[in-house]
Amino acid sequence: MQDLVRILYIGDIFGRPGRRIVKERLPELVSEYAPDLVLANGENAAAGFGITPSLVDELLALGISVLTTGNHIWDKKEIFPYLAEHADGPLLRPANYPPQVPGRGMFVGKTRAGLEYAVLNLQGRVFMPSIDCPFRTIDTLLESIPESVKIRFVDMHAEATSEKLAMGWYLDGRVTAMVGTHTHVPTADEVVLPGGTAYITDLGMAGPFESVIGIEKDIAIRKFLSQIPWTKEIRNIPEIARSHHEKLSGTGYPSKLSAPEIPLQTRMMTVSDIFDALAASDRRYRIALQRVAAPAGGPA
Ligand SMILES: [Fe+2]
Ligand SMILES: [Fe+2]
Repeated sequence: MQDLVRILYIGDIFGRPGRRIVKERLPELVSEYAPDLVLANGENAAAGFGITPSLVDELLALGISVLTTGNHIWDKKEIFPYLAEHADGPLLRPANYPPQVPGRGMFVGKTRAGLEYAVLNLQGRVFMPSIDCPFRTIDTLLESIPESVKIRFVDMHAEATSEKLAMGWYLDGRVTAMVGTHTHVPTADEVVLPGGTAYITDLGMAGPFESVIGIEKDIAIRKFLSQIPWTKEIRNIPEIARSHHEKLSGTGYPSKLSAPEIPLQTRMMTVSDIFDALAASDRRYRIALQRVAAPAGGPA
């Protein structure tokens, strides 16, 4: 058996910028470090909120073997049936969600060289939804892994550093490595614990630098300044408005969103905006087009 196993793990991949960075830089990292296994957290792959089946395929096609996730796994509804239908697949959701929830939190596979490995995904409970206990869950999961599987990798997706550090010590000597994800800000505390487990509190993200954990910085600052608790109906207005110069072809701005990432409300706004630009009489740069009434009745 080979002595050294190299695992490349990419923290939360945030939206199109994150996917672009991974696509552009992963080949260099693979040729430089020759990892046996490439893993990533994909919970923010779809414009920051969740992941879709087509994005799972896109990321796996880049050479990522397993995608862990976290609290954002439920943001895109199309992922519910996908998780149910691919329960043994390489897209994980945190294992300590209640048992009736679709999907699984552990994947067992083999590297190209034939080494068996397990990837386990947990989620913390401090300042996060109060799901099942991650500590007791990992005990049960580890017991279920065959002895022959020596490579055991854990993504502990959590807000509080204390909870991640406690999990690191709890797992020391029982798993190969535990990394933290979720805060999108990397910590500089990487260490091999006395029992031999490699540990880091948070890996950070693959996402836009001029942002607040991936979100456009102006939107985040405005939120902190106003402290207005927007209702669910209007909470997404900045996001909807901001995207109305995106294009279905993925060549628009500011984020080059692809068609599935552009919200329906944004598309409606875009049509209104174009109509207004063409038909308004107060534009100095063009003569307003005539408005034509739609014929009554319409097609049969
Ligand atoms: Fe995240
Ligand atoms: Fe998260």
